[in-house]
Amino acid sequence: MKTSSSIIVYASLVGAAFGFVIPQARDSSSNSTTYNETQILQLALTLEHLESAFFSGALTAFNDTDFTDDGLPVWARGRFSEIASQEQSHVQLLTSTLGSNAVQACNYSFPYTSPASFAALAQVLSGVGVSAYAGGAQYLTTKQYITNAAAILSTEARHAAWIAGPVNKGNPWSGPYDTPLTVGSAYSLGAQFITSCPSSNQLSVNAFPSLTLSNTTLGQPSSVTAGNNVTVEGQYVAFFSGLNTTFVQVSNGQVVIPSDSMGTSYAVLTNSNGTATDDTITAGVAVLQFPYGSGGDLETNGRMEMAEAMM
Ligand SMILES: *[C@@H]1O[C@H](CO)[C@@H](O)[C@H](O)[C@H]1NC(C)=O
Ligand SMILES: *[C@@H]1O[C@H](CO)[C@@H](O)[C@H](O)[C@H]1NC(C)=O
Ligand SMILES: *[C@@H]1O[C@H](CO)[C@@H](O)[C@H](O)[C@H]1NC(C)=O
Ligand SMILES: *[C@@H]1O[C@H](CO)[C@@H](O)[C@H](O)[C@H]1NC(C)=O
Ligand SMILES: *[C@@H]1O[C@H](CO)[C@@H](O)[C@H](O)[C@H]1NC(C)=O
Ligand SMILES: *[C@@H]1O[C@H](CO)[C@@H](O)[C@H](O)[C@H]1NC(C)=O
Ligand SMILES: *[C@@H]1O[C@H](CO)[C@@H](O)[C@H](O)[C@H]1NC(C)=O
Repeated sequence: MKTSSSIIVYASLVGAAFGFVIPQARDSSSNSTTYNETQILQLALTLEHLESAFFSGALTAFNDTDFTDDGLPVWARGRFSEIASQEQSHVQLLTSTLGSNAVQACNYSFPYTSPASFAALAQVLSGVGVSAYAGGAQYLTTKQYITNAAAILSTEARHAAWIAGPVNKGNPWSGPYDTPLTVGSAYSLGAQFITSCPSSNQLSVNAFPSLTLSNTTLGQPSSVTAGNNVTVEGQYVAFFSGLNTTFVQVSNGQVVIPSDSMGTSYAVLTNSNGTATDDTITAGVAVLQFPYGSGGDLETNGRMEMAEAMM
């Protein structure tokens, strides 16, 4: 990422309108949301279809000259082309794994307007892929599928690191652990780019209403707003960072950003102090970046982002 301290607003849309949802099953013993293996593989395939369309679409939209004119290295487009073909390979593997349960590709609308804004969004989406596999892993039961998912996850992480570092000139990683996302959170981050899906994609859960934080200065108050008229007052913003989750109650419409936040974090609104799961999350997901230097020095200003194209 560029090192400017500007705040990039991640304007998440509401997925509920898309008519494409993740199946959700209730675990009667604990009343907490759980997922079976097929549902997790369907989420993975949904996100792989999206990534595949995202990368291949940008390659169609922008040629080598467009890339270099926009300040990206000349070799970047060739590598993005490799990523596109690797995402397509993930689609094929998961499609074959799911057989008759495979979901089909949807129509998408991505907000990038230039190679640089595409690269900024590519960094976020690759990170979401990593977080989706990390969060979904606990629901996989078949040994071969766990192995396949691990092999895909590390490949997605390598894409994310390459895009964040050499291409976008920012932090190639966050902390010692990538951040797992709940299934609903991972879906919500992808769903905002889905405009319509085949009716045969019979799945069942909605994306969360959007969540926006106004200001991501470390240790400072940030105004919290949610979509769908969700009332934020008194609820908690859960900051996901690595394996840690920090809860901050919304007071006067604001939360103070945890001052030790570093690298990529995600924020969701939850009605529970201490639990942020798909049963308790009421809005999300905000993507937050807290850049730091090679000596570990934090920049004072974080950023909230999805796409520079949205500015
Ligand atoms: C997984 O859950 C879906 C939706 O509830 C259900 O249709 C499917 O039969 C379940 N699959 C397995 C293998 O339990
Ligand atoms: C690249 O695309 C631009 C428009 O985005 C066009 O003006 C230019 O001619 C193209 N260059 C080549 C080599 O195709
Ligand atoms: C994608 O959009 C086209 C054009 O609007 C439409 O004909 C097609 O049915 C859509 N496909 C899906 C999978 O929603
Ligand atoms: C963010 O908060 C800091 C500290 O309160 C303030 O100085 C800064 O102006 C705020 N930035 C925006 C964009 O609101
Ligand atoms: C939000 O509340 C207003 C006023 O009650 C209502 O008109 C609007 O439809 C609501 N919007 C949503 C998305 O629920
Ligand atoms: C979690 O938070 C603790 C205390 O702030 C910190 O020492 C640790 O590095 C954090 N771990 C991760 C994985 O972020
Ligand atoms: C939320 O939980 C934390 C840790 O258990 C506790 O310190 C804090 O007082 C709780 N906040 C509220 C508003 O109950």
